[in-house]
Amino acid sequence: MKILVLNGSPRPKGNTAALVDAFVEGAKENGHDITVVPVCQKKIAGCLACEYCHTKGEGRCIQQDDMQEIYPVLSEAEMIVLASPVYYHSFTGQLQCAINRIYALDKPANLKKAALILSSGSDQVYDGAIYEYQNSFLDYLKLEDMGIYTAFNKQNKSEEKLTELKQFGKSLKNIAEKNEEE
Ligand SMILES: Cc1cc2nc3c(=O)[nH]c(=O)nc-3n(C[C@H](O)[C@H](O)[C@H](O)COP(=O)(O)O)c2cc1C
Repeated sequence: MKILVLNGSPRPKGNTAALVDAFVEGAKENGHDITVVPVCQKKIAGCLACEYCHTKGEGRCIQQDDMQEIYPVLSEAEMIVLASPVYYHSFTGQLQCAINRIYALDKPANLKKAALILSSGSDQVYDGAIYEYQNSFLDYLKLEDMGIYTAFNKQNKSEEKLTELKQFGKSLKNIAEKNEEE
């Protein structure tokens, strides 16, 4: 299946990247087609609420920044993975800008599943990000929850967590395989 991972960490070799890499390794072993976008290495501004996308733009965002390269991948993706360090009990600002820009597409055409990967310094700091994930992605976009994975403090980059994420990637079924089973 086509999977888009939005990595909201500004640290290319940071804790979130390690979790994402492990997930990608597992998912690739299972033949999934994955695109990882390091959102902080891109120039993605926040939504302007100009409504061009819902009027003259017919689903296209007026802002000509790096979000334009993500839209086609997002339109094709069957699963989205939001990965972020926890900043002030939520996603990083850069990831939030990218999430807000999904507005132009309303519901991305092929998206059916979602997962959440969070890294933090402390435990029990995930409610803000989980609230947004559940309400905006699972309920509003009607996506199936494939799992929420968290790592705090020493769990970050630990063998145990990386194995867990790799296993998660490996366990994902292709949508066609799942439909055959049902
Ligand atoms: C601006 C900022 C805000 C943060 N806010 C929190 C927080 O609210 N709770 C927490 O547990 N950790 C917080 N942290 C720590 C990061 O979530 C943690 O170090 C994480 O593992 C970093 O992931 P990365 O290596 O992918 O950047 C914050 C770090 C920064 C730089």
